Amino acid sequence: MRVAVAVLAGASALLVAGCGSQGVVLPTANGVSGTLPKQKTTPALAKGDPAAGKKLFASEGCTGCHTYGPAGSNATIGPDLDKLPQYAKQANQGSLQQFVETSITSPGNYIQPGYQNVMPTTYANLPPKQIADLVAFLTQ
Ligand code: HEC
Repeated sequence: MRVAVAVLAGASALLVAGCGSQGVVLPTANGVSGTLPKQKTTPALAKGDPAAGKKLFASEGCTGCHTYGPAGSNATIGPDLDKLPQYAKQANQGSLQQFVETSITSPGNYIQPGYQNVMPTTYANLPPKQIADLVAFLTQ
């Protein structure tokens, strides 16, 4: 009998402690209501405009570091982008489009052999459409 009382007392002590800790927020979700907006375009696959990309290539300063025939540039700090199809094959980082896009948004991901990791990382902040335009210009 004594044992049972002791157990009961212990149990109520636990209950009291439980009440005291009710202020703690439990990380349980109550479910999400509403519908997600339908996606019209996937930014990564947005269709770029090569002519707009050509303008961006100059205005964003790419011409200051890269040689690229269609842009009329001949800088040598970065790789010659006329050779992108070949470089993309050597890099083996997905399709030419994927390789070019990643090279613009996170240049440090793959460093072209013989070059330094000095390409600005700020191009990742460009609107997806402008990145698509640049990719279109470089893969036309
Ligand atoms: C300050 C110089 C500099 C500027 C400005 C610059 N780049 Fe680069 N870029 C480099 C260097 C250096 C590399 C080689 C290192 C690497 O692979 O990240 C490179 C690599 C690349 C590559 C991958 C080439 C390869 O074979 O790996 C692409 C594509 C590219 N740049 C496109 C651009 C575009 C588009 C812009 C403008 C929006 C730009 N770069 C601006 C210096 C620059």
